[in-house]
Amino acid sequence: MKLEDKMLNALNEQINKEIFSAYLYYSMAAYFDSLNLEGFANWMKVQAKEELTHAQKLYDYIYDKGGIVELDNIDKPKKEWGSPLEAFKDAYDHELSVTQSIDKLVDLAKELNDHATQNFLQWFVNEQVEEEANTKKIVDTLQMIGESKTALFMFNGQLGSRQ
Ligand code: FEO
Repeated sequence: MKLEDKMLNALNEQINKEIFSAYLYYSMAAYFDSLNLEGFANWMKVQAKEELTHAQKLYDYIYDKGGIVELDNIDKPKKEWGSPLEAFKDAYDHELSVTQSIDKLVDLAKELNDHATQNFLQWFVNEQVEEEANTKKIVDTLQMIGESKTALFMFNGQLGSRQ
């Protein structure tokens, strides 16, 4: 079954959202690098690359279904935050919005009786559980760290090991 236009457009929009996510996380990486928090920056760079693999998955699926990928402008991401905690709160909120967007795609696939797309999207549904948990854990840790510079630098070292 070919993708319905509505489904195709929504999947193309999701590609844009995933690439925007990469852009936002690279912007956060640059913010952390400007503070010499290389571990935090590393975490964000790894995350940005992961977002590009999400976009690629959607791209490949559209082509497997005989659709055409259409890329749009990528919004300019924010570039400054008041603190590492503020940046990670934003990352967590952003992931919540991506989850909402994936849920809407699933709703649309259901509405259109598009079983293949519903099935394809399950990977994203599961991935979002992880994406939310990962960012939320860091928000919680930063809240515990509070004003302690020593704890912040220790945590920075820990995040530097993400590959
Ligand atoms: Fe592609 Fe972070 O969701």
